[in-house]
Amino acid sequence: MKINDDQTRYNITEEACQISNFKTSRIFFLCLISILLCAVITNVIHVNVFHPVSYISSTMRSSSSHHPSISASSSCDSTIVKATKMAICLVGGARRFELTGPSIVKHVLQENPNADLFLHGPLDQNAYKFFLLKTAPRIAAVRIFDPHRIAETKMQLRVLSSGDSPNGTQGLLQYFNLVEGCLGLISAHESRHNFTYEWIVRTRVDGYWSAPLDTSAFQLNGYLVPAGSRFGGLNDRLGIGDRATSAVALSRLSVLPVLAAIGHQNLNSESAFKAQLAATHVRAKEATLPFCTLSDRHYMYPPGRFGVPVAAIDGGGRLSGAKCRPCEAVCTGKCVEKVWRLLDKGWGWLERSEGSLGLCNATGPWEEGWEKVFDRAAGEKAAAERRKVEAVDLAGCERELEGLKKKANLWDAPAPAEICRLGLVDSVL
Ligand SMILES: *[C@@H]1O[C@H](CO)[C@@H](O)[C@H](O)[C@H]1NC(C)=O
Ligand SMILES: *[C@@H]1O[C@H](CO)[C@@H](O)[C@H](O)[C@H]1NC(C)=O
Ligand SMILES: *[C@@H]1O[C@H](CO)[C@@H](O)[C@H](O)[C@H]1NC(C)=O
Repeated sequence: MKINDDQTRYNITEEACQISNFKTSRIFFLCLISILLCAVITNVIHVNVFHPVSYISSTMRSSSSHHPSISASSSCDSTIVKATKMAICLVGGARRFELTGPSIVKHVLQENPNADLFLHGPLDQNAYKFFLLKTAPRIAAVRIFDPHRIAETKMQLRVLSSGDSPNGTQGLLQYFNLVEGCLGLISAHESRHNFTYEWIVRTRVDGYWSAPLDTSAFQLNGYLVPAGSRFGGLNDRLGIGDRATSAVALSRLSVLPVLAAIGHQNLNSESAFKAQLAATHVRAKEATLPFCTLSDRHYMYPPGRFGVPVAAIDGGGRLSGAKCRPCEAVCTGKCVEKVWRLLDKGWGWLERSEGSLGLCNATGPWEEGWEKVFDRAAGEKAAAERRKVEAVDLAGCERELEGLKKKANLWDAPAPAEICRLGLVDSVL
């Protein structure tokens, strides 16, 4: 019974991929005849034929909600994924963006040159570093907003825990608002241009990518999240899904009343995410992905059962969003095995797949000489970008940020001069 169901789903998925495939070759053929004609027809095809994928996936979701253990592998062919309409949503503050930005541009954005970038981040003294996104292939929208305190309702205070987040419930609400706001930007862009995306990739400004985001991460029947770092729920440091599934997964703030209504309490970010997908019958799929979350936070070392391991940035493995920093590892080989066995699988446990994992002693601030460690791991080009951000002056910053603004379809942010002044003048006064 289960196997049959699985089989059916797999066939549907194949079909959905073939629909796209057919469409792609048709577009290609028509392009040969006339480039002009192609522009018109691509438009028509996008609007009229793109619905099957999201339709199929939403049907599958409702039919599969009763046996969530089934796992059908259904990633689409890479050339097909790259030819579809894709939105990449990047959220968060730019604190260390001089280190993470170039890796995101190279491994996420340039790897999917057809994708539209949506940036949603707070206005602060680091926001000027977003100018590094100027080399992104396509920029749909940039929203940099002045963060305000979000009023906390009794319901929210009950559903959410204040424990794990550095800024308590308020920190969680800010984060959920950032994520859901990105969905708002995407929807607005879609209705302005009269089409819908097939895929939405949601990722973080503080993600450091060591290898390309490859197309095996695009899977139809479910929502893809990184493995490990579950913290009592599901790792929410990245998510990939089709349009319908992503709409559900990104609605983190507006789903809270639903979670409250079914009696959830005291959730952290990860357990709220898990509860939200379960409540809306979206199946999560875990995958190991080549990025880590660059963090300045301090953590106990060595981590205990419910501790947080901090990986050295230059291990080269697929860290799936685990915390990392540029450090000379204090723990490798047998030492890592020992720490790793102790970690609780449902908490800070870190998925390992390849590379030589090293752990940092992250009890204090980043060590002296971390720049050298970073440059060694990231390579000369990334090192040059890092130095460029460090050395940029007001005029250079404005010039770069104006370039970003010009390239963006929508600029919902203060003037570049203001963002640069906040980071380069006001912050040192
Ligand atoms: C927490 O709040 C402080 C000040 O209110 C702010 O500087 C910091 O960025 C916040 N941290 C997070 C993770 O939101
Ligand atoms: C948007 O697309 C629909 C069909 O999908 C069409 O009926 C409508 O006229 C289009 N609107 C604009 C403004 O192009
Ligand atoms: C970790 O680093 C701190 C200083 O930042 C030091 O006091 C401590 O002994 C170190 N722990 C281990 C296990 O090396």
